[in-house]
Amino acid sequence: MSVLIKGGRVVTAADDYVGDIFVEDERISLIGESLDVQADRVIDASGKYVLPGLVDPHTHLDMPFGGTVTIDDVESGQTSAAFGGTTCHVDFIIQPPGQTFAAALEEWRSKANGKQVIDMGYHMAVTDLKDGGTLEELATLPDQGITSYKLFMAYKGALMVDDETLFRTMQVAAETGALVMVHAENGDAIDVLVKEALGAGHTEPKYHALTRPPETEGEATNRAIQLAHVAGSPLYVVHVSCRESVEPIERARDAGWNVHGETCTQYFFVDYSFLERPDFEGAKWVYTPPPRPKENQDVLWNAVRTDTLSVISTDHCAFLWDGQKTMGRDDFSKIPNGGPGLENRLHMIHEFGVRAGRITLNRMVELLCTNPAKLFGLYPRKGTIAVGSDADIVVFDPARKYTISASTHHSKSDYNLFEGTQVTGTPEVVLLRGIVLVENDELVAEPGIGQFVRRAKFGAELKPERASVA
Ligand code: URP
Ligand code: ZN
Ligand code: ZN
Repeated sequence: MSVLIKGGRVVTAADDYVGDIFVEDERISLIGESLDVQADRVIDASGKYVLPGLVDPHTHLDMPFGGTVTIDDVESGQTSAAFGGTTCHVDFIIQPPGQTFAAALEEWRSKANGKQVIDMGYHMAVTDLKDGGTLEELATLPDQGITSYKLFMAYKGALMVDDETLFRTMQVAAETGALVMVHAENGDAIDVLVKEALGAGHTEPKYHALTRPPETEGEATNRAIQLAHVAGSPLYVVHVSCRESVEPIERARDAGWNVHGETCTQYFFVDYSFLERPDFEGAKWVYTPPPRPKENQDVLWNAVRTDTLSVISTDHCAFLWDGQKTMGRDDFSKIPNGGPGLENRLHMIHEFGVRAGRITLNRMVELLCTNPAKLFGLYPRKGTIAVGSDADIVVFDPARKYTISASTHHSKSDYNLFEGTQVTGTPEVVLLRGIVLVENDELVAEPGIGQFVRRAKFGAELKPERASVA
């Protein structure tokens, strides 16, 4: 099957030109002006942007968490992603305590089998190095294409690890070429604050934020940075939400340390006041770190402009408001933490980043596609438009108006974090390895088309010939 995408404005992290793209056998085989080639399918992209498929390095599909399971499984989550122009994501395997990493991987692969709509890889979240997986087993994962280890420094009594586990994992990463990812919050201090709040009879959603002050994020971010520096491992701080966490990352990067940071779409738009909405509606925005005071939003825009933060992900961790979030009606600490976001990252960042003049189109592509691909061992197979790359392509209509709503989104969640937001610009056609996934507002490919991608080690390229699929 060959496809010719004609006359679009091709935008990558570095380039911006009008041209044609010819796709054969799942890859981009030719780029040029007015290409004179025969194709099975021609897509007229004049007046449209032609972007690389987005890469989301932070999602939680079909994940047991907070006394329930996230509502989007691989099929619904990836369908939602596809409609938003995301063609590859990296999901978190959570090592169940007492289980080996191999067993955890097997369990997650079986949850995805036959349901995949887009391509995907996995991070391994380490929860237990005593009774389950060992450091030796952890060291084998990068050779299986799982080239990032995740550690939670919060969620005491559930996913949180101690500093010894964190540091030992960093030491393994330094040896194996894996990237260490941290959820950076001081889980011990937060646990004390949560108990105090509940003891004082404070049960509403806003106490989720009031018991997780920004300093607890800043402290843990700095701790992880210092420990990774001692261990000699690269570090990636997920879902940075506030100045207290941006500043230590900036200092480390200025000093040339191997430290990287991401924020997520919602932190630019949702602030603390959302948690105060009446009738338990605030629970929709209970995710961690919590929505912060509004002044942090400018700090984050500045950080993504200056490359203190290099990635915008979604942290898609969807629940129903009615039936899952409501588990915490009488106790904010029982509200499952997380929100849906996979479908609207491009809508929101294009509208309020590019159209509002905060970032350039090239920088948007870098933040949503190229940098996540580079940091997570997917580049140049993913994250760019170049000869030899996978033909993961979004034909984006920059003039079409679109209203974000749970009534039209493809997540199974019954609410949308950005409900009612009107944007100008939306994906029109989305291709995965040259196969049309989304067109005319419909999913036209069958689940099962997506593949597991064995990612390259940190800093290495994923060459098309090296890419293997299992
Ligand atoms: O609230 C969130 N972010 N839920 C997902 C788990 C995590 O901490 O990333
Ligand atoms: Zn987290
Ligand atoms: Zn997360």
